[in-house]
Amino acid sequence: MNSESKYSGKVLVAGATGRTGQWVVKRLLHYGIQTRVFSRDREKALAIFGGAVEIATGKIQNSEDVANAVKGCNAVISALGSNSPSGESSPEEVDLNGVMRLVDEAAGAGVKHFGLVSSMAVTKWYHPLNLFAGVLTKKWEAEQHLRSVFSGAGKSYTIVRPGGLKDGEPLQNRLHVETGDRMWSGWINRSDVAELLVVSLWTAKARNMTFEVVNEAEEKQESLEPYYDKLS
Ligand SMILES: NC(=O)c1ccc[n+]([C@@H]2O[C@H](COP(=O)([O-])OP(=O)(O)OC[C@H]3O[C@@H](n4cnc5c(N)ncnc54)[C@H](OP(=O)(O)O)[C@@H]3O)[C@@H](O)[C@H]2O)c1
Repeated sequence: MNSESKYSGKVLVAGATGRTGQWVVKRLLHYGIQTRVFSRDREKALAIFGGAVEIATGKIQNSEDVANAVKGCNAVISALGSNSPSGESSPEEVDLNGVMRLVDEAAGAGVKHFGLVSSMAVTKWYHPLNLFAGVLTKKWEAEQHLRSVFSGAGKSYTIVRPGGLKDGEPLQNRLHVETGDRMWSGWINRSDVAELLVVSLWTAKARNMTFEVVNEAEEKQESLEPYYDKLS
């Protein structure tokens, strides 16, 4: 573990037990950042993270659980994602209402920065992925809510819109970043999506940015911070 700590606050990770969320936690711990995870399944969180993080247990549908989870945190990173067309893990419940509830409770608790994993093509209602219970449109609406709540004084957000997600180590690929939701295809490692959101905690140029990102070529990277220079 790298003991260099670039951010002194505490970060809540929602969706921490998911594949991107686990990378968010790993990269936060790599930088020595205090981490709390929010999970509906305490045993699962304990099995994955052991004693390395604080665990707040609760449902994303329950405002009181969410309020308890964000209390005392300086930043939130959400890697939540739906996995069922209906019910409690649907796009409506997780990608839209769950994220909006997290945004509202975080703002109310004085959280300063909110990082969100969204998706490429969220503005394209006609994209085939939207056949999954309107998932792209729900993510777009949640993005809009985050932008409106966290762009005020003393607050900031960073929204990463990845292409198709793959597993693998971070910092192994040169990335291509763009704004305006004009990309149609491409892949990126979940670990790099996590890294981009973790470095957004201390990178001034990441503040209030929404951007798409995919791999360009295999090429080791020292840091992903310079990609934020390309956006401004
Ligand atoms: N797959 C792709 O190619 C792709 C492309 C672009 C964007 N994305 C987006 O990237 C994000 C991360 O994707 P991923 O593949 O890492 O996702 P994942 O492995 O499926 O993880 C999703 C997380 O959301 C949590 N979750 C789901 N339903 C929940 C509920 N009802 N209450 C509380 N938590 C709930 C899961 O909790 P449990 O661990 O308890 O199940 C898990 O921690 C998602 O928003 C996804 O839509 C994906």
